[in-house]
Amino acid sequence: MKILITGATGLIGSEITSQCHQHNISVHYLTTSTDKLVSNENHKGFYWNPTTGEIDGKCFEGVTAIINLAGASISRRWTKKYKAEILNSRINALRTLNEGLKQSDTRKIKSFVSASAIGIYPNSLSNYYEETESGVDDSFLGEVVKRWEKEADTFESYGFSVSKIRIGLVMASDGGALPEMAKPIKYGLGAAFGAGTQWQSWIHVSDLARMFLYVIENQLKGVYNGVGPNPVTNLKLTKELARVLNKPLILPNIPKFVMQTALGEMSYILFNSQRVSSKKIEEEGFVFSYQNICRALEDLVGKSGTNSSKALYTKEYV
Ligand SMILES: NC(=O)c1ccc[n+]([C@@H]2O[C@H](COP(=O)([O-])OP(=O)(O)OC[C@H]3O[C@@H](n4cnc5c(N)ncnc54)[C@H](OP(=O)(O)O)[C@@H]3O)[C@@H](O)[C@H]2O)c1
Repeated sequence: MKILITGATGLIGSEITSQCHQHNISVHYLTTSTDKLVSNENHKGFYWNPTTGEIDGKCFEGVTAIINLAGASISRRWTKKYKAEILNSRINALRTLNEGLKQSDTRKIKSFVSASAIGIYPNSLSNYYEETESGVDDSFLGEVVKRWEKEADTFESYGFSVSKIRIGLVMASDGGALPEMAKPIKYGLGAAFGAGTQWQSWIHVSDLARMFLYVIENQLKGVYNGVGPNPVTNLKLTKELARVLNKPLILPNIPKFVMQTALGEMSYILFNSQRVSSKKIEEEGFVFSYQNICRALEDLVGKSGTNSSKALYTKEYV
């Protein structure tokens, strides 16, 4: 089995790649950085540039499934220019892949899975979202995810299974939100945001990577929420993290206007609330290893620097 992954060098892609190698699945990956190109028997990088539509067609050779994760990070200040990059990087990646596929033999491909995000669901303290929800959050993120998913749907014309995983807050030791949340708490400066009642639908990175591979293995179609079974409020998450770090939480909650002043419009991601259900994927037989936040944090905290996945993109990795 061979899987082509875009965005493979990032947080989620590195974990998926590691799990593929553990199961003897070969990985082809597309990268925009020539210095991340590695070529080994089970792990081969190919250059692409979604901005210009350039793609190395050899990346599709022997591939039986495709995972699309590529996109500019949302965790930077949302200037007008950068907002365009957040959207265009995702749309251009899918269009470039699609053009590449049109020139290739697609007969072996059985499954296409694209990343999406729970940011599509309307901000709400009370709703509990399943994949059937048709409302879209009235925000920049809601609009980005709607257009990203629409672009992913164009792959349905090929006849292989197409699915979208709406990813929640990914908990990992070496990147993403968790190390950023842990930093102030370690220095005694941790506090919840706003009222702290906003829902955070989190998932352990290892469960998420397994979910991508599960969707491929079972050729599942349609939308699946990429969240764990027990979302928590921001206050609960902050308190649990402080407990696992063995630090007290002494400061009052941080008001919204403070974060808006510091981060601009991007502060939206700290305060919006989406309580999202994992029922659909569980009904397909997927079993989470990390069901609640305490266990996930206990597993991840203190592990920083032990994740070998970054070594995948150094020349020494064989
Ligand atoms: N982490 C989360 O909590 C979370 C939550 C919801 C949704 N998601 C989505 O899941 C996907 C993967 O997330 P992640 O956390 O693994 O992201 P990440 O660590 O930022 O990695 C994304 C990868 O995309 C590629 N990339 C960056 N800018 C690009 C651009 N302008 N054009 C094309 N490719 C670009 C990079 O690979 P190269 O340098 O090799 O090209 C990068 O390694 C993202 O699309 C993200 O929006 C993540």
